[in-house]
Amino acid sequence: MKHLLSINDLSESEAIAILDTAAELARVSDAPMKKLPTLRGRTIVNLFAEDSTRTRISFEAAAKRLSADVINFSAKGSSVSKGESLKDTAQTLQAMGADAVIIRHQASGAAHRLATSKWMSGTVINAGDGTHEHPSQALLDAYTLRKHLMQGAKNLQGLHVAIVGDILHSRVARSNVLLLSKLGATVSVAAPPTLLPVGIESWNAHVSYDFDELIPNVDAIMMLRVQNERMNELYFPNAREYSRYFGLNSDRVKRMKKDSIIMHPGPMNRGLEITADVADSARSVIIEQVSNGVSVRMAILYTLLTGEGIESGALA
Ligand code: CP
Repeated sequence: MKHLLSINDLSESEAIAILDTAAELARVSDAPMKKLPTLRGRTIVNLFAEDSTRTRISFEAAAKRLSADVINFSAKGSSVSKGESLKDTAQTLQAMGADAVIIRHQASGAAHRLATSKWMSGTVINAGDGTHEHPSQALLDAYTLRKHLMQGAKNLQGLHVAIVGDILHSRVARSNVLLLSKLGATVSVAAPPTLLPVGIESWNAHVSYDFDELIPNVDAIMMLRVQNERMNELYFPNAREYSRYFGLNSDRVKRMKKDSIIMHPGPMNRGLEITADVADSARSVIIEQVSNGVSVRMAILYTLLTGEGIESGALA
């Protein structure tokens, strides 16, 4: 496997191998000396044409923990803001000797375009393309679910996960439905009809318009951000009504299964899709998702750039 553009690029066993490798690499993050020499001499470019906090910083931390040289490149402050094309940007990165490019772009398909072009020869990792996919986020979410709820199992067989909110604009939802179902979980999505994409029936997920009906039956609730920046029309009457039907608040949390967890990929709209007290509550694993993101992204870089993973227990 050279690139990671979509969860469809991974078989179940390849996805599990990345999660196992991440579990081993988490030991590096927990050690006083947070470094492995694996990618010494390799150059990794973070090419972010769209804003990011977690993904950009965690890929940078991951690459540095594997001793790679990292170049951070964002559209703001670069020649992209003067209208430079993806092709010219890619050829510039090729001239700099980039071994891998981690790309976030507002256009769905941008990572695929880069990977299948002759503009550059390195590895391409999709860090979120438009409303299409965000595979590294889904892998870190699966890792978090496995760690919390699966007691040593390799896959997510028997788990029921609800993904709730703005499914229409969410690349996180698409990648998670693909990955969690591949790993054996049952996935339900809940949203107002206006925030579900055309063709949702073909996704490997149960569709519900009633969040309350799902709450007592699921092991994890993954709340999604309402993506106001992608909305050019009214998708629900007002924020209060959205929160009333699809927001996670303390009354709804009281109806959750014992030991079930609350997730959110971030950034959050506190007070809209999730209340602040719930986001900061004991059931919330939102901050842990961020730290797991570093180990999982180390595993992705390790796997793609060395062509192998790390066996369970190898770094113990
Ligand atoms: N979850 C996620 O992609 O967050 P960022 O936009 O901060 O990278």
